[in-house]
Amino acid sequence: MKKNLIAGNWKMHTTPQEARELAQKIAAGNPQNAVLCPPMTSIAAVAEITHGTAIGLGAQNCHFEAKGAFTGEVSPSMLIACGCTHVIIGHSERRTLFGETDELIAKKVWSALDAGLTPLFCVGETLSERQSESWKSVIERQLKAVFAGADPDNVGGIVIAYEPVWAIGTGLAATPEQAEEVHVFIRTCLHNLIGNPASDMLILYGGSVNEGNARTLLSQPNINGALVGGASLKAEQFLAICAAGL
Ligand code: PGA
Repeated sequence: MKKNLIAGNWKMHTTPQEARELAQKIAAGNPQNAVLCPPMTSIAAVAEITHGTAIGLGAQNCHFEAKGAFTGEVSPSMLIACGCTHVIIGHSERRTLFGETDELIAKKVWSALDAGLTPLFCVGETLSERQSESWKSVIERQLKAVFAGADPDNVGGIVIAYEPVWAIGTGLAATPEQAEEVHVFIRTCLHNLIGNPASDMLILYGGSVNEGNARTLLSQPNINGALVGGASLKAEQFLAICAAGL
């Protein structure tokens, strides 16, 4: 089941031209386990490069409705029409900077899945939650919001990304042991919520993954890939992380 999917979260970086060039450099390395998540305005440019390759294409957010009067929003079916296969949902920056709640994030996850996208559903604790030992209850709450009462036959397409907030963009990644401990906890919670399908769900680690720490993180039994921010903006580094996952 170890799959080691490597998703690059480009955040609010790259014009369409810059995105095309970055995608071209990454595609030249022919990675078999990569998903690129450019900003909305660069999705079409990257789709031209990834189309017909093994590289997946993801957005960084979407709305839960299919269409309507939601100024500034984009729906899952619109993303699919632009070539997207994946969408990041519930990233900690969306939670903290844009006020996204567990309830909103759950609606987005199910809407994206129903439309045919693979949601990359993010969970993770802040530094104070880790220090106060409340990380387990935080992560359990975030998982329950999406999976409580879910039909176990319908969850296989969801990918979880564990991203400790204190590790994002700080250069201070979780140790492989810390990450593995949380991934085991997440899988146990999922087992309690949805039963057997939990064994086969991909759980990615995110937070300061780079070419130096990728191999040991990705060799942990319950880490099934990585969600990479800063290091995904450099083609050589991103390709090295993809290779570390093979
Ligand atoms: P980082 O970001 O790799 O720059 O820490 C990860 C993320 O926010 O997904």
